[in-house]
Amino acid sequence: MIKVTGIELENPTILAAGIMGTTGASLARVAKEGAGAVVTKSIGPEPKEGHKNPSMIDLGYGFLNAMGLPNPSYPDFKNELSIAKKESGIPVIASIFGGTEEEFVEVAQGLLESNPDVFELNVSCPHALGYGASVGSNPDAVESITAAVKDAVDIPVWVKLTPNVTDIVSIGDAAQRGGADAVVAINTVKGMAIDIESGYPILGNRFGGLSGKAVKPVAVKCVYDLYTALDIPIIGVGGIYTWQDAIEMMMAGATAVQIGSAVHEGIEVFSSISTGIDNFVAEKGYKDITDVIGLAHERI
Ligand code: DOR
Repeated sequence: MIKVTGIELENPTILAAGIMGTTGASLARVAKEGAGAVVTKSIGPEPKEGHKNPSMIDLGYGFLNAMGLPNPSYPDFKNELSIAKKESGIPVIASIFGGTEEEFVEVAQGLLESNPDVFELNVSCPHALGYGASVGSNPDAVESITAAVKDAVDIPVWVKLTPNVTDIVSIGDAAQRGGADAVVAINTVKGMAIDIESGYPILGNRFGGLSGKAVKPVAVKCVYDLYTALDIPIIGVGGIYTWQDAIEMMMAGATAVQIGSAVHEGIEVFSSISTGIDNFVAEKGYKDITDVIGLAHERI
């Protein structure tokens, strides 16, 4: 059991925002596999089809995606969120995005009646112009969006950060100033792949965001730096496939971890990681998992 921003999780593994969070049924299915909490696919103000195909490539060491924030819009997602709440039995975090502060507030208020436990503000999609990292790399925008949503809702607000900036700590600081209850690090790393036969970039959107094994060291360093600077909890995400990866992320400073790409290798990843964490804590003789959080900062 671990408490993050007042929300109790049976274990520190959380489904990251992504395609498994598209329906209430898929969220409930992940819950049954032992996740401590689940995050929905990011939901916005208007229905959005997303970028043209191909929108995801498996590179072996990670995925490159440019889904383009496809979603049915908040009025059409309310029912899915209610189903997830009713059937999952664990905290459900609603990931939301907007093009402006007002849109973020509109989506948050629109989803409140479905009783999400937390809002996660996606200010960090690397390839959705006007929606994503162009907002999330601007500290003033991150601060004011966070403050506006905090003002409008009475549940915890987490802010998901982009690694595609020179200084992620300045963005984390801005989220904290805006009243964020936690930050989530990291969203995907901007990337591109080119087909050498034709010379064309492979993704329909030409470029996208890298996730999976390749980004773990980037994520660990971001979490490590944020832990040094912030007073609010950090949720670590990026390349977590095993319990060892989860422990590493927690030693960098994460209170809990999110799992995205690894779900494509098997949904049982949540229970295998949480069991591995429990065994590690017992074998090391730690009081509980909180002894692991930020441990690398003591090793100097
Ligand atoms: O890599 C990402 N892809 N990050 C996001 O925040 C959104 C997603 C998409 O839908 O393109």
